[in-house]
Amino acid sequence: MKTKIFAHRGSKGTRPENTLISFQAAIDAGADGIETDVQLSKDGKLIIMHDEKIDRTTNLTGRVTDLTLAELKKADAGVKFSDEYRGEQIPTLEEVIELLKRNNFKGTFNLELKTNHIEYQGIEELVNEQMRQLPADIHLLYSSFNPNSIRRMQKINPEAEFASLFQFKIKESRLLAKNHLITSLHPDVTWLRERHGLFWPKLLIRPWTVNSTKNMIYCFKKKYDAIFTDYPAKALEVRKNI
Ligand code: G3P
Ligand code: CA
Repeated sequence: MKTKIFAHRGSKGTRPENTLISFQAAIDAGADGIETDVQLSKDGKLIIMHDEKIDRTTNLTGRVTDLTLAELKKADAGVKFSDEYRGEQIPTLEEVIELLKRNNFKGTFNLELKTNHIEYQGIEELVNEQMRQLPADIHLLYSSFNPNSIRRMQKINPEAEFASLFQFKIKESRLLAKNHLITSLHPDVTWLRERHGLFWPKLLIRPWTVNSTKNMIYCFKKKYDAIFTDYPAKALEVRKNI
């Protein structure tokens, strides 16, 4: 079985992250999976954004939680990456699902519950409701750095797959695995390489963020289940030669 290639925030290396054009580029490249991050706006809408603030990736300023969907839609999420992508908006989770459907995407949709800094009240229920629109032939994978969020989501939808994200605190992930709340681990690739790999029977390993050719080859040779990369098109080329 080949290591799958999951597009991190879409094709983050070549398009503005977490935008519809970024997800489209990842699908067009042939990525096996799409990863993205969800947060809650002031008026309770599910917003696709990595940072708690919109400052780094858009031309406006403020926290997602303090802005309404209408206010977030005024932000330009493309221009800071390149003038070529001026006018690109911050998408909602619903819009991303629509994009996957339009493209007849059949891979994995990995939604990271971005609750590690702000524990958005009720986000898991809202996400679960929205995910009813996801076609059954798309594999749904939830992940989070926040074990409480994984526990809450697992209760709501035990049918989905769950992964624990971690950088240093592997203890929390071990506990989730022991309690059968997760079936996969998503570690930082640098952390992983410093420890000469990770062997954990029965759990699927998917390192992030694997951008260099060297790290890609390492993960492909280790036969990890998948990698997260900002460069899905490049990773597909590297994988061809393994
Ligand atoms: O899923 C891997 C990766 O997305 C986790 O880190 O900070 O890019 O959301 P981050
Ligand atoms: Ca993420």
